[in-house]
Parts: sequence; C-alpha cells; structure tokens
Amino acid sequence: MRQIWLQIWLLLTLQLLSLRTIRPEERILNRSAQEIARVGIKRVAFDANSIGNGRMYYTNLDRLRNVVLALRNASLNAALQRMDQLLASNRAEGKLQQPVPADQPFPCNLTQARSGQPPSHIWELRPGDIDITAAFGDSVIAGNGLLSQRYMDVFSEFRGYSFLGGGLGNWRTALTLPNLLKLYNPQLYGFARTHGLVADREKSVFNIAEPMLTMRDLPYQAHVLIERLRSDPRVNMQQHWKLLNIQVGMNDMCFELCSWTDTEQYLRLQRQHAYRAFSMLRDHVPRLMINWILLPDLDDLLRTLRGFPAQCNLRVICSCLTGNYRAHYPDAVRRLQRMQWELAELPEFRRNDFVIVPHQVLANMSGIVYTQGVLSTRYFTHDCMHFSQRMHAIMAGALWNSMLQPLNVTAARAWRRPLQNMVCPSAERPFLRIS
Ligand SMILES: *[C@@H]1O[C@H](CO)[C@@H](O)[C@H](O)[C@H]1NC(C)=O
Ligand SMILES: *[C@@H]1O[C@H](CO)[C@@H](O)[C@H](O)[C@H]1NC(C)=O
Ligand SMILES: *[C@@H]1O[C@H](CO)[C@@H](O)[C@H](O)[C@H]1NC(C)=O
Ligand SMILES: *[C@@H]1O[C@H](CO)[C@@H](O)[C@H](O)[C@H]1NC(C)=O
Ligand SMILES: *[C@@H]1O[C@H](CO)[C@@H](O)[C@H](O)[C@H]1NC(C)=O
Repeated sequence: MRQIWLQIWLLLTLQLLSLRTIRPEERILNRSAQEIARVGIKRVAFDANSIGNGRMYYTNLDRLRNVVLALRNASLNAALQRMDQLLASNRAEGKLQQPVPADQPFPCNLTQARSGQPPSHIWELRPGDIDITAAFGDSVIAGNGLLSQRYMDVFSEFRGYSFLGGGLGNWRTALTLPNLLKLYNPQLYGFARTHGLVADREKSVFNIAEPMLTMRDLPYQAHVLIERLRSDPRVNMQQHWKLLNIQVGMNDMCFELCSWTDTEQYLRLQRQHAYRAFSMLRDHVPRLMINWILLPDLDDLLRTLRGFPAQCNLRVICSCLTGNYRAHYPDAVRRLQRMQWELAELPEFRRNDFVIVPHQVLANMSGIVYTQGVLSTRYFTHDCMHFSQRMHAIMAGALWNSMLQPLNVTAARAWRRPLQNMVCPSAERPFLRIS
C-alpha cells in the first residue's frame, strides 16, 4: 500500500515539476490555465446574475481532474493520520510558534471590541465588526506543507492553520488572522474550520485558496466567493461586514512571468484580471474590506532565496528569478508591485462600504529569517517553498498590526515575537486602517 502511494506521489511530483521547470523556449501563453487544471480546478464562463443556486465553479468531474483531486485529498488524509507525529517533529525542529500558556491573557483589552450598531461607513470598523472573513490565494494560503516532515508533505493542505484564512484552534497555538478576529467577535464566520480541500465546503468555508493560483485567477476566485456567499444561509449579504484577505502573485513572479514572450502584454493582462475581480467584488458584495498583501520586495526576495541550504533546488522554488532569469524581469516585477498600489488607490475602488488596503507584510522577509547572516530553515517547510506554522503565526501578527497602523518594515526582526509586539486598538485609534 505504502509503495503504491509513493509511486502515485512521485508521479504527481513529476507532473508538477515538469511544469515548474518549463524552459523559456517552450512558452505557453495560457500556461496557468493548464496548470490549475492539473491540480483539479476548472474555470468556467461566469455570469454574476445567474449564480446563487449552489453551482460549483471548480473541479468538474471529468476523469483526470477527479483523480488529481482525490490524490490531494489522500495526501491530506494520510497526513492527518500522523498529525501527532507531524506536530512533534515540527516542534522539535522549531517550526511551530511558541505556545501561549492558558494563564497568560491576550495582550489587548477586548472590551468595546464591537460597535453597538453595525457601522455604516468603512472607516468606522472595529475589529469585532467583521462578521464574515474570506481568503483568496495560492498554496501558501491553502496551507500546503504548513506542517511537514519531508518534501511530499507539500501536497497536503493544512488550510485550518493558514494565517489569512484558517481558524482551527485558537491564537495560543495557531495564531492566524481569523483566530485573532474571533476574540473580538466570537460569531465570526468564513474561515477554514479545519484542514481540507476547497471542494469540501463545510471545511474550507470561504478560504478558497488553491495551490498554484496566479493573479490571473483572481476573477475565478471572485466567482467562487460570490457564489458561496450568496448560497450560504449564515451570510446576511446586506448587513454583515466582510473582510477578504488576498495573497497571490508569488507564482507570477516565480513561474508565470518567464512563460510569456511578451512581458508588456503579460503585465497589461494581470492588471485587467485584478481590475475585473475587484469590480465584480465591489458590485456584488456589499460592505467589503479587502486586505491585499503586496508582492515581496524583489531584492529582499532574492536575498532570502540566496540563503537557502543547498538541498533546496532554487530552479524549482523560483525558476523565473533563478534558472530562467532575464535582465528585464526585475523591472517587470516592480511594475507588478506598483500596479497593486495603483489599483488600491483608484477612486472607483474607494467607497463608503468598499476599500482595498495594501499590506507590506512580505516586504522584509530577510529581516525575519536571517540571524547574523545565516538563514534559519525553521520559518520554511521541507519543500523550501512554503511557510512553516511559525512563519504563518509571524505573518498573522504582522498583518494584524498592519490593519491598525502602517508597518515599520525596518523593524521586521521584532515580528518574530508577534504577541510581544502586538498593536492593540485603543480609545485614540479604535478603527481598522483604510489607507
Ligand atoms: C490554451 O492554449 C491552447 C493551445 O496551446 C488552446 O488550444 C486553448 O484554446 C487555450 N485555452 C484558453 C482558455 O485560452
Ligand atoms: C476528502 O476526504 C475526506 C475524508 O475521507 C472526505 O470526507 C471528503 O469527502 C473528501 N473530499 C473530496 C473532495 O474528495
Ligand atoms: C479595558 O477597557 C475598559 C474600557 O475602556 C476598562 O474599563 C477596563 O478596565 C479595561 N480592562 C483592563 C483589564 O485593562
Ligand atoms: C529588515 O529588517 C532588518 C531586521 O529588523 C533590518 O535590519 C533591515 O534594515 C530591514 N530592511 C529594510 C529594507 O527595512
Ligand atoms: C522603525 O524601526 C526602527 C528599528 O527598530 C527604528 O529605529 C525606527 O525609529 C522605527 N521607525 C518608526 C517610524 O517608528
């Protein structure tokens, strides 16, 4: 039995790797469509006016997709069987956050967490006013390999611990943004309740991140979210305040960029996709705040990549910036980043009940992961590409702080101790930041 699984995993790995290490001369314009099809997802044509009857916009049941989906699930189920072992080995390797003892109180005062009446303006939101939380993203946000003992664990989605969209357990052992928001509003809904695939809706709820998604998939993610919100009886579409957390783009920087011959066209299209997704969300999801995690700073990302130990294959981790590097890529990446700021500031995306807030939590990864010039692997998983639970907890703390006041990126080292550095809403500053 073990042998068979190993072979299947190996096949799946090879399939994924054959795509990731694609050579520049083999450019495929719609590569992302093909890639996500291989992990069991399918985009379909979408009409916002006709949704709401529980139709699913992913994983149609043609044979290959179904097999791949079953493999992802089998990988996760096998991991869940050895959860105690996984936790123990991750703890031993320093890849888990420090647990907070039961007698240590949460650092912030939780009174007046929620407004008496739901506020009617987005600039008056307190943390406890968020009723619904959701997340878009790629494998990092799906929690791929978040707990790992070996490379193969990259196929398991530990979605419940994802810093943007997981709400399994509580802040003492799983610091995530939803677990923080839950303290302010115990009725919070929409986070992944446990580890599982997006297709298992009662587990993933509105954490609909999927491995390998790129910016191009933002409209697709918006489709799925709108459909799920509309068909969920626990969601009051008009009244509830919703928080959508988005982190996508690492696959663009690392894999998508170098699969295009025409970089200008590529950049133009990414802007169009993001614009379309935000327009759709603004028009169909009343009372929505969007947290948009900005792409990492390029120089800083390269600095971080250089520190990985030799057994991490950089060509696999980020082929566009390593093996397939071209002189114009840094400029393209910076333009992608500027595009994120620029979209967030557009007047059509700033309304009384809609805003996109950019967050720089990835701007100084090297400041977090290096100590005296040496990169510590405890912030990463065994596949080298993904964040360990310790890093997820750090990101949750940084994002929380960033929601209340602009981050001091120079002080990134201090983010390693999120609870000691937690910013609290105060009488002077009770509201979530909107710019
Ligand atoms: C993707 O490209 C293939 C050819 O490589 C083409 O047949 C197919 O129609 C394209 N699909 C989309 C969605 O653009
Ligand atoms: C994944 O596995 C779980 C546990 O066996 C099962 O309940 C669930 O239906 C499976 N999901 C999919 C999409 O196959
Ligand atoms: C929390 O804040 C409330 C009102 O602002 C105050 O009355 C209370 O004493 C505070 N609690 C603690 C533990 O500081
Ligand atoms: C990143 O963080 C480190 C440690 O806090 C700091 O020394 C460095 O100046 C920061 N880099 C930037 C670009 O702010
Ligand atoms: C940011 O952090 C650095 C390093 O800790 C500190 O020197 C600087 O004063 C801080 N800047 C602000 C605006 O707080």
